[in-house]
Amino acid sequence: MNNAVAGFSKLSKKEKINWIANTYFLSPEEALNIIRNYTNSDEKLQQLHDEFIENTITNLYIPLGVAPNFLINGQYKTIPMAIEESSVVAAASKSAKYWSTRGGFKATVIDTEKIGQVHFTFNGDAAKLHSFFDQIKPKFFSDTQSITKNMQQRGGGILDIKLKDKRSLLENYYQLHATFETKDSMGANFINSCLEQFATTLKDEFQDSDLFSEDETLKVVMSILSNYVPNCIVRAEVSCPIEDLAEKHITNPQEFAERFLQAVQIAEVEPFRAVTHNKGIMNGVDAVILATGNDFRAVEAGVHAYASKNGQYASLSHAKIENGIFTFWLELPLALGTVGGLTSLHPLVKLCFDILEKPSAKELMQIVAVAGLAQNFAALRSLTTTGIQEGHMKMHLNNIINQFEATEDERRLIKSHFKKNAVSHSAVVEFIETIRK
Ligand code: MEV
Repeated sequence: MNNAVAGFSKLSKKEKINWIANTYFLSPEEALNIIRNYTNSDEKLQQLHDEFIENTITNLYIPLGVAPNFLINGQYKTIPMAIEESSVVAAASKSAKYWSTRGGFKATVIDTEKIGQVHFTFNGDAAKLHSFFDQIKPKFFSDTQSITKNMQQRGGGILDIKLKDKRSLLENYYQLHATFETKDSMGANFINSCLEQFATTLKDEFQDSDLFSEDETLKVVMSILSNYVPNCIVRAEVSCPIEDLAEKHITNPQEFAERFLQAVQIAEVEPFRAVTHNKGIMNGVDAVILATGNDFRAVEAGVHAYASKNGQYASLSHAKIENGIFTFWLELPLALGTVGGLTSLHPLVKLCFDILEKPSAKELMQIVAVAGLAQNFAALRSLTTTGIQEGHMKMHLNNIINQFEATEDERRLIKSHFKKNAVSHSAVVEFIETIRK
């Protein structure tokens, strides 16, 4: 089927929806119903969502849950999490409660530097380019004053601009490598606006300079922030005497601590395991990033680059046992905002910020890192004790029950049966079929 369409973006929302329903569905009315069911009846609210992106037809919901009892630097927090994967919120809550009686989570922001680059080519004398750069460097700051004024008032701005010679990587390739402090905003717009002005200044000053010959040319390729922020780092940690690790499922805390440590060490040296290990961390991280309207693609890209910073993809978390003390921690690069963007537009995001008691960007970095560490702890605890499937299958059971639209009576029967029997998709389906006969 050839379903190309001309001028789609010019159609009204209704026309777009009708085109989708009529083009892809044998029963367009059914499709229209689903789309309608997920469209907010509050027209103003729906319009707000419609305008976040282009060609909106409806909304895709994912659940927003909360994980309470997170003791972070001595203060209790309830963490909102937007995620579709069963057992993530339950695992976070379980970890939170567990560590709340063992000293809680400690989180520290190590640095908050953001990065942006103007990529350009220059085919002339490198020494001349360097002295030209030194000459015009103040101009980059003065030409961006209208952009940086407000940020400077908030204590942020451009930290530094360096000229980098990258010719060992690519012919004639240079960069303006700039660093920024963006306080409570993620800073993408601010950084990109500064960079585009740097590019203009660079080109204009080059044109006006009499340092260069006719044959020497400078061409800007692009100006863009980097989502790799290895100097925008937060650390989260838990620690307690080994014997305090004991609880219902941890009857031998020394053995548990040692096995846990081994599990972390495996993720430190084995990329196949490291990816899954870090995925578990990102279950917690992404859920909070989404709930707080931050850019999860940016965070994902930056975090995984950071996981490879030593040349091989490795675990983001680490553990040690020293003098009878078990310590588990991670460091994450997180460029987050608590002002600007969706944070002030999306009513649910605003609600999540209220639940978090209006954190600063630094506090949000700490909360996100803690959610990641808690998630990682929960996963490793299950993996090194009962195995992951026990908890997963309990949650999975609910999904299967919902899928089969079980009645209240059927639910009771199914849940009581699977308290004593192992959950698998086929076993549940078989049981449902039996009770329905
Ligand atoms: C599943 O979403 C996450 C885990 O695979 C993480 C891990 O293996 O550490 C359980």
